[in-house]
Amino acid sequence: MPSLVYVLNGPNLNMLGVREPAIYGSETLADLRSRTEKAAANNGLKIDFRQSNVEGEIVTWVQEAREKAKGIIINAGAYTHTSVAILDALQASELPVIEVHLSNIFRRDQFRQHSYISLAATGVICGLGSTGYELAVEAMANILKTAHKA
Ligand code: DQA
Repeated sequence: MPSLVYVLNGPNLNMLGVREPAIYGSETLADLRSRTEKAAANNGLKIDFRQSNVEGEIVTWVQEAREKAKGIIINAGAYTHTSVAILDALQASELPVIEVHLSNIFRRDQFRQHSYISLAATGVICGLGSTGYELAVEAMANILKTAHKA
């Protein structure tokens, strides 16, 4: 049975394709989802891909992942820079976490250069657009393989 990984997307990521394409590209969230699902199939993982504009809903999904999933890939959008609640949930999950951002947050506004999520992340990928999601899936598959061998 392939391991289940939650791929959680935060606020405004439902606007991909329309939202600031010079920064976030022209692919939609549906495009991102199908790329991520293909990468998962190629790496022997199953993914549950979700998006919410609501902080508490993301917290609830992280809590749910603790019970149901083997890892979490998360692009928390702007909550990356503000949410102690999502950080706390990720730390409580005791799961491997990969943080992803489409844009290079270190090349942008100062306030984007701090991430609460990073404190709970095994690794961070940013600035590579949708490729970052595919790489995150591949990295998660490697992390889970190594964990099973231990
Ligand atoms: C983002 C970067 C965040 O700073 C921003 O608020 C987003 C998207 C990214 O994927 O590049 O909503 O997480």
